[in-house]
Amino acid sequence: MSNMKGKTLVITGATKGIGKAIAEKFAQNGVNIAFTYNSNLEVANGLAAEWESRYGIKAKAYPLNILETDKFKPLFEAIDADFDRVDFFVSNAMIYGRAVVGGYGKFMRLKPKGLNNIYTATVNAFVVGSQEAAKRMEKVGGGSIVTMSSTGNLIYIDNYAGHGTNKAAVEAMSRYAAVELGEMNIRVNAVSGGPIDTDALKAFVNYEEVKAETVKRSALNRIGRPEDIAGAVYFLCTDEASWITGQTIVVDGGTTFR
Ligand SMILES: NC(=O)c1ccc[n+]([C@@H]2O[C@H](COP(=O)([O-])OP(=O)(O)OC[C@H]3O[C@@H](n4cnc5c(N)ncnc54)[C@H](OP(=O)(O)O)[C@@H]3O)[C@@H](O)[C@H]2O)c1
Repeated sequence: MSNMKGKTLVITGATKGIGKAIAEKFAQNGVNIAFTYNSNLEVANGLAAEWESRYGIKAKAYPLNILETDKFKPLFEAIDADFDRVDFFVSNAMIYGRAVVGGYGKFMRLKPKGLNNIYTATVNAFVVGSQEAAKRMEKVGGGSIVTMSSTGNLIYIDNYAGHGTNKAAVEAMSRYAAVELGEMNIRVNAVSGGPIDTDALKAFVNYEEVKAETVKRSALNRIGRPEDIAGAVYFLCTDEASWITGQTIVVDGGTTFR
């Protein structure tokens, strides 16, 4: 098995949901965690303390609003001061609420501002975060980058046009990054999740309907859990995935085909 101990993961949005499950999975395996929060400072500091004492790793939370893309550079500089290396970067955080007005909704109600915000949060955040991470990974001989995508770019989901198109875009961007970062021994992949029961899904106006439909469609008769995604992201960062780059792994409990 890969030796992950002592390596460092940088992940955006790890206070809850999928990001939290991913960070915890890496922490359980001895990986140090530099993660970001947006609004939940207390929760973030609590998680850092919990992971440090439970798993004997170093963990630290940093503030970041992914809509402010010029903040990625200072974020990584702050991480440089606290951690000796960067091996993995997971672009996970996503915006919701007011920032997605005009982006989350029916096609005829879409507006450039909301759509642009989702592009910034999905594609630009992946690009600038990966650029900063790649510079550090190069110094340690390589690394692995994973972006979160969703199956809403493969199948129709009510009100999801803005997010779905940007998830398709970030998958394409990750393939371009994979080709160009390969010479630094950096692998780049996407994990495309089917509906996972998190606060982001609960923010859907038709949450109960989506949940019931997911259970019905799933070959496994249940909705996805954050931990279901964490395993795939972790695998992509291990040496077991050493020949996997430029790919999207769909982790959907069989919901997309049905
Ligand atoms: N849930 C699903 O069904 C599903 C399926 C497929 C893919 N995904 C993708 O998985 C990723 C995580 O989703 P999730 O469901 O786990 O979401 P979530 O539970 O709502 O968590 C969102 C995270 O993003 C942070 N965040 C919110 N606004 C931010 C901003 N403006 N700048 C920086 N960080 C911000 C939050 O931090 P604070 O708590 O500090 O505000 C939180 O840590 C997203 O990329 C999403 O598209 C989700």
